[in-house]
Amino acid sequence: MPSRIPEKFIDELLLRVDIVEIIDARVPLRKMGKDYKACCPFHEEKTPSFTVSPGKQFYHCFGCGAHGSAIGFLMEYERMSFPEAVEELAGHAGIPVPKEQGEVRAKPDPGVNLVEVLQQASRYYQRQLREHPQASLATEYLKRRGLSGEIAAAFGLGYAPDGWSNLLQALGKDAAAQEALQQAGLLVKKDDSSYYDRFRGRVMFPIHDYRGRIIGFGGRVLQQDEPKYLNSPETPLFHKGSELYGLYQARDAVKREQRVLVVEGYMDVVALAQFGIDYAVATLGTATTREHLERLFRFTPEIIFCFDGDRAGLEAAWRALENALPVLHSGRQIGFLFLPEGEDPDSLVRKEGGAAFSARLRQIIPLPDFFFQTLAQEVDLNRLDGRAKLAELARPLLSKLVPGVLQQMMIERLAELSRLEVRNLSQLLNLKQKRAALKRGSAQDKRRPSLVRMALALLLQQPALARQLPGPAVFAPGEMPGMSLLNQVLQLLQAEPNLNTAAILERFRDSPHQPVLAKLAAWEHPALQQDTRVEFQDVIHRLRVAAYAHEAERLLHKSRLQGLSAVEKADLCRLLDEKHQLEASQDKETWATS
Ligand code: GTP
Ligand code: MN
Repeated sequence: MPSRIPEKFIDELLLRVDIVEIIDARVPLRKMGKDYKACCPFHEEKTPSFTVSPGKQFYHCFGCGAHGSAIGFLMEYERMSFPEAVEELAGHAGIPVPKEQGEVRAKPDPGVNLVEVLQQASRYYQRQLREHPQASLATEYLKRRGLSGEIAAAFGLGYAPDGWSNLLQALGKDAAAQEALQQAGLLVKKDDSSYYDRFRGRVMFPIHDYRGRIIGFGGRVLQQDEPKYLNSPETPLFHKGSELYGLYQARDAVKREQRVLVVEGYMDVVALAQFGIDYAVATLGTATTREHLERLFRFTPEIIFCFDGDRAGLEAAWRALENALPVLHSGRQIGFLFLPEGEDPDSLVRKEGGAAFSARLRQIIPLPDFFFQTLAQEVDLNRLDGRAKLAELARPLLSKLVPGVLQQMMIERLAELSRLEVRNLSQLLNLKQKRAALKRGSAQDKRRPSLVRMALALLLQQPALARQLPGPAVFAPGEMPGMSLLNQVLQLLQAEPNLNTAAILERFRDSPHQPVLAKLAAWEHPALQQDTRVEFQDVIHRLRVAAYAHEAERLLHKSRLQGLSAVEKADLCRLLDEKHQLEASQDKETWATS
């Protein structure tokens, strides 16, 4: 989706902000040579391979390949959307974000309006819990469930009174306000274009993002009614698949405890916190996604899933496991805590107290154990074909694991259980090949790079080099691989000579070429460290010769097969002529002398 923020502004922004400052505030950096380094925040590591280049305004991890501009960093690290990241940087630099002119804006700005609307609504619901004539319905309910006033306040619980237009009348003063409330998911639009309150007769749980901004609500009925819980619909701010209830309140405790407990319900989070277990979060009525896990692993290396011990609980745990495999980098741990059937954390902690509940955390089943226990139940390990089936069942799952120590150990465990040799098993799992392919890739890197790659890398790393080229620098003839991309970059730099590396890459954010360009931007080749002016001159010169040769070759080939038209013949003569001239031009006089 094209951004509504003008490209020129992004360029400008990336010139104004300093990526070192932006990252250093979040991941302390150390200066090493001309770059800054840290242990990578995106994967587990002991020696720093996360590199931030002030020159390129670009970060890159040589361990896991993460890379990007200051915008990309905020999107990855802070989980901001593109507009949010731009907004944040602009705020930092003290410049307002302009909006593209002449565009009809279908939605209010999600970064500004909705947050404010939701904040107001939350204050309204909290006030109703204290002041509404029927507030006792809600407060009695909360008391019956054992909630203290302090904990209700700590989680900002509120009350949406019965009736169709309480919020509408209180906050929907005019058409614009009503529209905003609808965008925020708090009002529903009827066919006749009038609105009514989405949440009625419910205890309201505000849902915060991890920074504390309210992004939605969950509402629970007071009596037996359907649905028991009602959540805000998806809005530009609220995405159930990536947000976690309670993370904002729990995040310091999660860092302190170095683990997080993932439970199923709002009430579970609140009850656990009331009993001192303040590092629990809940998904919002969805299964755990990879996004959830990635977010949690930013705060802690250990995630504990808490499920009911019944069949549904085991199935949910298995789904969580499947989603977790691809994000289990070394150093990360996942465990499962199964509660007695019919209990949830809320009911159990009230029954047995915080200390007894905490003691259960000593009986966590580590992911590898749960993995093999579950699979082993499906086969008969005493039978040869049963053990073969085990290997078959494990295969697709183990190949999802990140290659590393954990994968190796899981393979060894599987080898034991299936009584296969690790060597044979690895072959069976198709994992060796993958490693060999990786090696082939790195061998290729050491070979002499292609001219186009070299030219692109030089331009990306030192965009000012483009100024050396006189006139339109586009390589007209030939169809050498990568040439059209090189032309694209050259044209961009000729039109916008001041772009830095980060800004060029931002221009290619949604392009299929982005990964290649990012790789070249971070590439450390000796030729890129020396006299790059001379190197660039040489590479471009050789590219020109090669391009002419390529095109001449094509025409010669055609002339042998089917002959050439008069125009093609003339072209060929001219090409050969120009190629000779180019080859002869020792001093490359076509170069500007800047
Ligand atoms: P209490 O009955 O209040 O203790 O809730 P609970 O957390 O024990 O509820 P339950 O185990 O039934 O559900 C766990 C979570 O699933 C809730 O916190 C909700 O996020 C979600 N959920 C439960 N029921 C519904 C529903 O009817 N609709 C939706 N959208 N989500 C629900
Ligand atoms: Mn419950």
